[in-house]
Amino acid sequence: MLKEYCISDRTFRKISQLVYNSIGIKLKKNKKAMLKSRLIGRLIELDLENFDQYYKFLINSKEEFDNLINFVTTNVTSFFREDHHFDYLISKVLPELEANKDTKKIRCWSAGCSSGEEAYSIAIVLSEYFDGQDWDFKILATDINKEVLYKACEGVYSKEELKGVSEAIINKYFKLIKKNNKVYFKIRKNLREKIVFKKVNLKPGSYYPIKSKLDFIFCRNVFIYFDHHTRKKISNKFYKLLREGGYLFLGNSDTMFAIDSFDKKWRVANITTYQKLD
Ligand SMILES: C[S@@+](CC[C@H](N)C(=O)[O-])C[C@H]1O[C@@H](n2cnc3c(N)ncnc32)[C@H](O)[C@@H]1O
Repeated sequence: MLKEYCISDRTFRKISQLVYNSIGIKLKKNKKAMLKSRLIGRLIELDLENFDQYYKFLINSKEEFDNLINFVTTNVTSFFREDHHFDYLISKVLPELEANKDTKKIRCWSAGCSSGEEAYSIAIVLSEYFDGQDWDFKILATDINKEVLYKACEGVYSKEELKGVSEAIINKYFKLIKKNNKVYFKIRKNLREKIVFKKVNLKPGSYYPIKSKLDFIFCRNVFIYFDHHTRKKISNKFYKLLREGGYLFLGNSDTMFAIDSFDKKWRVANITTYQKLD
């Protein structure tokens, strides 16, 4: 007979407190069923009797904690998602950088990059825009979830994952490969080299490996998972990392959560796009 696993409110609270303390994501009570269904497989694999045993195992295993993070993060993404941001990059941000920068260098960050589609979309836009010119651009792309970062580093996508990307762009920036007798598309080396993928926790208090000022930051559809306090702290950190006039792109669903912490330091430049004021 199939075993019935139950997670008590107390154990759920203890697990969600651990998650909040380490990555800043608050698992509300209505996420209890989701957490339970995502973790039952682990209980079976680890041959554990109940969620209390799982909690005890969790607090003693760094590896299991990484697994838990992979389970609780939502990684939905796609190439050129919320394309108005890319249109704004092309029509406003890049011409501004081209006209005003002393050096032909662009440094930017895809924070919460998931499986890499956002970072590669930025790289494609920059490559197309500066085609044939000697501009040097680098993208830092980071996430907390090791599993999606692994996929991002590989840069291999299925035809379905490239839905909406034009044939011309696919032919120029991807090469066909075969894996398990199926056809996939792998990012070409010259584009892959523009991006450094790293595991970085955005939670306030964590180290962000950024040495020079950034021209723009994409942090889209990540703030939605944080509480007000966390969003405020992170947006202040972003502010310090951007050069004057630099841009912060949030996701469509993030705006209403962030705007009240933005005070007079930011200008609303476009849809969910904010410019750092002096
Ligand atoms: C919904 S995805 C957004 C992906 C991409 N930015 C987009 O808009 O398509 C949110 C990503 O944020 C990451 N994330 C959540 N909490 C994080 C944290 N504390 N530090 C770094 N990344 C985090 C998740 O792992 C997930 O991949």
